[in-house]
Amino acid sequence: MSNNTTQRETFSSRRAFMFAAIGSAVGLGNIWRFPYVTYDNGGGAFIVPYLVALLTAGIPLLFLDYALGHRSRGSAPLAFRRICKKFEPFGWWNVMTNVIICIYYAVILGWAASYTYFAMVGAWGNDPADFLINQYLQAAGPDDLGLNFVGSVLGPLVGVWLFTLAIMAMGVQKGVARASTIFMPLLVIMFVLLVGISLTLPGAAKGLDALFTPNWSKLAEPGVWVAAYGQIFFSLSICFGIMITYSSYLKTKTDLTGTGMVVGFANSSFEILAGIGVFAALGFMAVAAGQEVNEVAKSGVGLAFIAFPTIINQAPMGSFIGVLFFGSLVFAGLTSLISILEVIIAAVQDKWKIARVPATFLVGLPLMVISILLFGTTTGLPVLDAMDKFVNTYGIVAAGMLYVFALVVSKKLPVLRDHLNSVSSFKVGPIWTACVVLTVAVLAFMLFQDTRNLLAKNYEDYPDWFLNIFGWGMSVGLVVVSIILSLLPWKNEDKFDPNQKED
Ligand code: ALA
Repeated sequence: MSNNTTQRETFSSRRAFMFAAIGSAVGLGNIWRFPYVTYDNGGGAFIVPYLVALLTAGIPLLFLDYALGHRSRGSAPLAFRRICKKFEPFGWWNVMTNVIICIYYAVILGWAASYTYFAMVGAWGNDPADFLINQYLQAAGPDDLGLNFVGSVLGPLVGVWLFTLAIMAMGVQKGVARASTIFMPLLVIMFVLLVGISLTLPGAAKGLDALFTPNWSKLAEPGVWVAAYGQIFFSLSICFGIMITYSSYLKTKTDLTGTGMVVGFANSSFEILAGIGVFAALGFMAVAAGQEVNEVAKSGVGLAFIAFPTIINQAPMGSFIGVLFFGSLVFAGLTSLISILEVIIAAVQDKWKIARVPATFLVGLPLMVISILLFGTTTGLPVLDAMDKFVNTYGIVAAGMLYVFALVVSKKLPVLRDHLNSVSSFKVGPIWTACVVLTVAVLAFMLFQDTRNLLAKNYEDYPDWFLNIFGWGMSVGLVVVSIILSLLPWKNEDKFDPNQKED
């Protein structure tokens, strides 16, 4: 049997990896989540917890994920198995988290692609909220789970899946890296243009004032700190297997910490740029409607698909702003979706020794069908909302807390630290170790707070049965399936030598 480690594909260069890693990090989280989280959690003052979270948790855990993947040259389950056999379920937990995220992430890209076209023709008329809910999504409440397909959502959703799977089938360098190398520069050009235009709109200064005016008293609220850490984990794509998988494709001699810092700061720079662009536009919207910014500020679906269409209706060059905004969402989301799918495909390839193309379709087609059944129908919106909330807590935060804790108590941190230092320019030592240990406590606190809130009151007042399926049920399912997958035998498992050179 040939050795799997010698066959593993690699990124052709550090640059290719950086494009892919930044492409993964910069996603919907940067554009539609960060601006509102900042505004809602102290404005300018939020920069303090945000930087603390970035420097003490985000970058240290990014290094940890890199070390796990690069040392083992394996997907998430293999990386955990190669540091300690008993840890394999953590890798599958990561994989299952990505399974959930990809099935709803793809639909948002489908909506954004449709809205890029709608922006050109002004399809939403004078009432974007009514258009979104009643005409485009034809959304039903959580009480109506009938599988009524909505053609206008279904078409773009299938398109997004087929396009992304075609990229995935091409492999790590020709597919993943090449797509990121094309889409990321396009995204930056479009987004800088969008921010430039937004800043010229009347009222932009009012929006920026609302975003950046610091409310220092907010720093005393634990929830603000939790929001900062939550933002960093999702946005940097850490604790869900993505960075483990990507770093497993790096050549043996790669400066891991130097690269990690570039990725971390690039992601945050984009996030701040997005904050400026979005709030300049919201300032315009508030002034045009004679309202205050707090009356128009939103995040997520409400920001992208209701507030922005309203802005586009009123702003000079509205259609152009719309194409730039929704096009940016598509490009940013696409490179993130690619990274999310890569975690799943790489794991299946590693465990069952399946070639790239069959593995892509074996994984991708069932996920596409689930995505279509859940989100190509009138039931999409509440399901998406509940799954997003619960997977963030019981996929990313819970898994991250437990695997970092397991690595700490099993004394694996020195192994990973030594690996980082053996290849990197910037060496890590006791401060890195202390940050990683501290992050376990922070994640535990986040998990406790979130669980307490979710138990105290039904999330978004959704009915019990609905949360028992798409919230709690899904979260328990994640763990159970992960354990089952980790118990299945490996096909022709290779011997692992962490010092093996492959290039
Ligand atoms: N990091 C990706 C995002 O921000 C998942 O959307």
